Amino acid sequence: MRTLDQVDVTGKRVFVRVDFNVPLQDGRVTDATRITATLPTLRALLDRGAALVLASHLGRPKGKRNPDYSLAPVVAVLAKELGREVRLAPDCVGAETEALASALNPGDVLLLENLRFHAEEEKNDPAFAARLATLADVYVNDAFGAAHRAHASTEGIARLMPQRAAGLLLAREVAVLGRLLAAPEKPFVAILGGAKVSDKIAVIEHLLGRVQTLVIGGAMAYTFLRAQGKPIGRSRVEEDRIELARETLARARQAGVDLLLPSDHLAADKPEAGATTQIVSADAFPDDLLGVDIGPDTAKRYGDVVAAARTVLWNGPMGIFEIDAFAQGTMAIAEALARCTGTTVVGGGDSVAALARAGKSDAVTHVSTGGGASLEFLEGKTLPGVAALED
Ligand code: 3PG
Repeated sequence: MRTLDQVDVTGKRVFVRVDFNVPLQDGRVTDATRITATLPTLRALLDRGAALVLASHLGRPKGKRNPDYSLAPVVAVLAKELGREVRLAPDCVGAETEALASALNPGDVLLLENLRFHAEEEKNDPAFAARLATLADVYVNDAFGAAHRAHASTEGIARLMPQRAAGLLLAREVAVLGRLLAAPEKPFVAILGGAKVSDKIAVIEHLLGRVQTLVIGGAMAYTFLRAQGKPIGRSRVEEDRIELARETLARARQAGVDLLLPSDHLAADKPEAGATTQIVSADAFPDDLLGVDIGPDTAKRYGDVVAAARTVLWNGPMGIFEIDAFAQGTMAIAEALARCTGTTVVGGGDSVAALARAGKSDAVTHVSTGGGASLEFLEGKTLPGVAALED
């Protein structure tokens, strides 16, 4: 992959694929992390005398123009951060957009309207990719969060533009996540949570040969505990994945990986705020309750393992952390990551949000901007958006 400093951008128009798929509420951006994460790339290009044509998707408007998915709310945030005017094009293709792009001067910034207003984007339509390619001289992809999608703006266009490079954010994501798989300092601990075994099984498989310890939390843990024949009350379980969980436990044993499961839980009568809760041992889970968080002994045990590791990957919360009363286990993991002096990497929207809520985002080595993209990378899959940048 060519890096940003290996392409000549001075006086050129640079098409930068960014991932501005940010959360909105009442027409305002509620979390600008993905915008600020790409600023180093945008500033580096502007400092070198480029004009920018920025392109992103937002949500899933299913190939139709829909004002609810307009990138308009991003303009003000970006203009403020860059300290210069940002113009929003009426569309990402078409005569008016082409005229705006061709009139750009060095230092100008044009943001194209949502790429997914055209079905051709997600179809990776070659003609659509070619139309996007006419808007600039150089292609830079900084949208790591969308790199697992083989779309016109992430894959098709890259193959059409010989002058192409990875943006600083995308390059950093690939380098940090790549190091986790290739040369992690030991002990390497992966702590995985979230609701479903099925979402994380491919990552677990790929990590089994690489980690020394695999720590499991979240509702996913109940499927594993059930596979071990433990009582789990009314906790959420994936019945059709119990056998898979049993096989995974066996494979972890064969690989010499220490697979940790909760030894106590916070159990509730309902998965809602205001529920009646109690701490229960994993061996004596009451039939009428369900698990909503790891218990305090488990949080301490997991926290100690995480804090003592040389490399940690965290993906997925330990419980229903969105509800304050059920957040302690997840917060304990965020704090343990902050205490760890090794390399700490956090991926996945929920764990990233939990880390921010614990006020620990700056205390880890790397917070990935990719949800699905970081998972697919850690599963060992080739990301089309990355592959298309390679020479
Ligand atoms: C994300 O939010 O994970 C990326 O922006 C990709 O979005 P998508 O899942 O709608 O393709």
